[in-house]
Amino acid sequence: MSSPDDLDLAALHPRLPSPLQEIEDDRFARRGLRLLLKRDDLIHPELIGNKWRKLAPNLAVAAGRTVVTFGGAYSNHLRATAAAGRLLGLPTVGVVRGQELADRPLNPSLARCSADGMRLHFVDRSTYRRKADPDVLARVLRTAGAEDAHVVPEGGSNAEAVRGCRALGEELRGRADVVGLACGTGGTLAGLAAGLAPGQRALGVPVLRGGFLSADIEGLQERAFGGRRGSWALDDRFHFGGYARVPGELDAFAEDFEERHGVPVERVYVAKLLYGLVTLAGEGAFGRGTTVAAVVTGRPFPQAPSTVSR
Ligand SMILES: Cc1ncc(COP(=O)(O)O)c(C=O)c1O
Repeated sequence: MSSPDDLDLAALHPRLPSPLQEIEDDRFARRGLRLLLKRDDLIHPELIGNKWRKLAPNLAVAAGRTVVTFGGAYSNHLRATAAAGRLLGLPTVGVVRGQELADRPLNPSLARCSADGMRLHFVDRSTYRRKADPDVLARVLRTAGAEDAHVVPEGGSNAEAVRGCRALGEELRGRADVVGLACGTGGTLAGLAAGLAPGQRALGVPVLRGGFLSADIEGLQERAFGGRRGSWALDDRFHFGGYARVPGELDAFAEDFEERHGVPVERVYVAKLLYGLVTLAGEGAFGRGTTVAAVVTGRPFPQAPSTVSR
């Protein structure tokens, strides 16, 4: 196990700043727009995209203690936390939504977590929903045997993570007018917007249904920075029915984008962002001469739910 002194994130050689790649896409070019891809998916082969930006500061705070975090059966965040644990010699515990999964063979995502040394602790859905309640959390940690652990919330979005994501915005200063980003918890957007320069704006595409995200992002910015920061807005039209819903139209769009540009398109988040940006470009939402950067926050994982639920 690591001690605080030998936790060396730089030894993992993250590719930072992540590459910024201009691509030729006629759906943008014909409107007088430039499209850039901010390749956060290339930061690290296993701590991909916003996972690096959110986890790195949390691992530093954990300082060698067990890291406990939460996720569903296909959570990118659980996989990244497990990989970080293996790479850095930190014990990790994943609290997984769905007691019933405990008796089934692990799906490929959870199997990867387990192979990386993460101890999986399954809880029923009602407990999982109430995990922010301090009594419920204490009980979960007790039964998981992880009372002294550093707790990272579902999706990894706490104040440390949000401050970590500010660097994403800083890397884009002077490079784009509008920065598009897919949102789950909104933590990455909260940090990104805070790091952009005045005059730049962030545009979030929520992948969940619900319309609750603005208030959550305001709360995250309040906790991380003491108040609202940067210019940001959300467009709620591109969730395609909700989390991990990947109807044929979206899948076909993503496949076409991959063929046009040779960039792998993660379906649960990134495909919805790119679809949203292409739609907005077609609607004339961006003035001629605008440079749009799309943040590629993830990479497809084999047999993610998108390939199962179609
Ligand atoms: C690939 C990918 N993109 C975007 C996000 C959204 O990040 P956030 O929860 O900070 O909004 C996630 C969530 O973890 C993700 O896995």
